Amino acid sequence: MQHSLSIALSSAALLILVFLLAAKVSMDNGYVRFGERDFNNGKFNSFGVSQRNALLSEIKERHRGLLQYYTGSAWGFSLKYRKGPADRGLGLEDDTFSRTLEKIDEVHVKALSTGAVRAAAAAAGCEELRSMRHFEFLGSGYTKLVLKGVLPNGTAVALKSVNPQGVDMKRCAEVFGDVEGCFRLVSYKLIKEIALLQRLQHPNVVKLQGHCFTSDPGLRVTAVLELGSPLEMIQLLQTPWEERFRVCMSLVKLLHYLASSPLGSVCLLDFQPRQFVVVDGELKLSDIDDAVAGELSCREDRDCTLQFPTRNFSSPCSADGQCRGLNEKRNLYNAFRYFFTYLLPHRAPPTLQPLLDGIMNSTGDLSSGINRTLEAFQEILHLYKSGQYLQNVSSSLLKDYVLLKGFRTKESNNYKCWPSYKQQSCLLSVHDMKEAAGICNSHSQCQGFTVDQQRTWTGRSLASFRSGFSDLIPDVNSAIYVKKGAGFRATA
Ligand SMILES: Nc1ncnc2c1ncn2[C@@H]1O[C@H](COP(=O)(O)OP(=O)(O)OP(=O)(O)O)[C@@H](O)[C@H]1O
Ligand SMILES: *[C@@H]1O[C@H](CO)[C@@H](O)[C@H](O)[C@H]1NC(C)=O
Ligand SMILES: *[C@@H]1O[C@H](CO)[C@@H](O)[C@H](O)[C@H]1NC(C)=O
Ligand SMILES: *[C@@H]1O[C@H](CO)[C@@H](O)[C@H](O)[C@H]1NC(C)=O
Ligand SMILES: *[C@@H]1O[C@H](CO)[C@@H](O)[C@H](O)[C@H]1NC(C)=O
Ligand SMILES: *[C@@H]1O[C@H](CO)[C@@H](O)[C@H](O)[C@H]1NC(C)=O
Repeated sequence: MQHSLSIALSSAALLILVFLLAAKVSMDNGYVRFGERDFNNGKFNSFGVSQRNALLSEIKERHRGLLQYYTGSAWGFSLKYRKGPADRGLGLEDDTFSRTLEKIDEVHVKALSTGAVRAAAAAAGCEELRSMRHFEFLGSGYTKLVLKGVLPNGTAVALKSVNPQGVDMKRCAEVFGDVEGCFRLVSYKLIKEIALLQRLQHPNVVKLQGHCFTSDPGLRVTAVLELGSPLEMIQLLQTPWEERFRVCMSLVKLLHYLASSPLGSVCLLDFQPRQFVVVDGELKLSDIDDAVAGELSCREDRDCTLQFPTRNFSSPCSADGQCRGLNEKRNLYNAFRYFFTYLLPHRAPPTLQPLLDGIMNSTGDLSSGINRTLEAFQEILHLYKSGQYLQNVSSSLLKDYVLLKGFRTKESNNYKCWPSYKQQSCLLSVHDMKEAAGICNSHSQCQGFTVDQQRTWTGRSLASFRSGFSDLIPDVNSAIYVKKGAGFRATA
């Protein structure tokens, strides 16, 4: 890791980058994960070419897939590419290929001479990475190794590079027996991730903080990303509904963006929770190399079917030969089956339950699209934030409590409840004191509660419910609601 980072972005590396970007374009919208078809493409064998050429062809194919992300308006001009017959060889002598290479050179030079350089100046690059000393393991997968590092300005970041021990590298090395070639091949996934992160900027996509390409001893790519923590589903299941709702809503906002992103509609082929990280309670997409941009092409309606283990869905094939809305549908159903079913309905406020059931229904059978789903989430958030979901809390509830201003109580007066914001105590979010009083009345151990300045993401207060008030401590910033008849003794 360290030696591959210790080479500054030299002109040689730039040349490599230019070479990397130099490729023939084809819009690879195949609904097949790259990894699944990487090396079982029988085409090369039937051509009878050597393994080396086969690897080269795989590499070129990756180039082609990548190029679409470097075209379009974001680069200030569009790149025209004439797609050759699919079964033609992809050799460098190919006329289309060399013209593309020239074009890409232009893209690159243009990018360097305009905005990209300014952006690069603010971003972390090889220079910053070189000065890093300590790395911590964060995670690894089929393709990538992710380490934690600290930038010179103190910002902790996630560093993604090719995982030499990953399935992708191992499989490639087995088939082609060329480690450096395989590094290059697998690096394309990372380069694609960088390209996608440059174009897809959203609060629920991890921020690309920079990147570094080096070329000695071989091609090495490092992406510098906003640091998150892995999404732990089991842990999340034990958090209060408000936090689980937040994760689901983050996802819905992300999918709303992806449905009509700068790259068109984007589909996340791999939708496992491990593709996401959590940053300050917000869900963010971190593994984006399995995304495809653009709708699937079709000839007939049958081409536009979505198959899931327990449900199939179909869309019409539009007149211009696209499965319009299919990416959105696929993402939304995956959100339903991987996230909503586990996180959304359980232990929600009872008055919000019917609305949540509605979301479960309409995403479970795809009767609503992402726009209506987002509206439904916003509606629920509004009802929750405004306290309107608390229809029948009687204000007389608070009359059962005495307010002691200027005191707090010892931590030992806690009891546990579930799901609490803290493991060792009963800390719950409340809209107001009335709601807190209602909660306290419903807990047999509860003798009162305190509310401090802390707020949850929706702006609600955190109330700490207490089983006793044996030791009151003077504190001007605190107040305690004590149930009438509860024994308490002040030490002051
Ligand atoms: N920004 C990040 N902050 C913290 N940890 C991260 C970040 N990005 C990824 N990780 C961790 O590293 C692991 C591997 O990253 P990533 O999913 O990008 O690799 P991958 O090889 O594509 O994995 P997979 O085989 O699951 O597709 C993730 O599961 C996650 O736990
Ligand atoms: C630190 O540097 C990175 C990249 O150079 C930048 O994105 C980030 O905003 C900086 N953070 C601070 C706190 O200056
Ligand atoms: C989905 O479609 C496939 C292929 O047509 C079929 O084999 C399968 O049984 C269907 N599954 C469901 C749940 O309908
Ligand atoms: C959701 O579907 C179930 C079963 O089909 C139905 O009983 C329920 O009324 C539906 N709820 C909503 C809010 O549509
Ligand atoms: C969803 O909303 C976006 C804007 O927020 C809009 O561009 C798009 O057309 C809407 N989609 C549908 C299917 O209504
Ligand atoms: C709320 O109040 C209405 C009318 O006052 C009553 O009919 C209803 O049963 C109450 N609901 C609950 C949950 O107490």
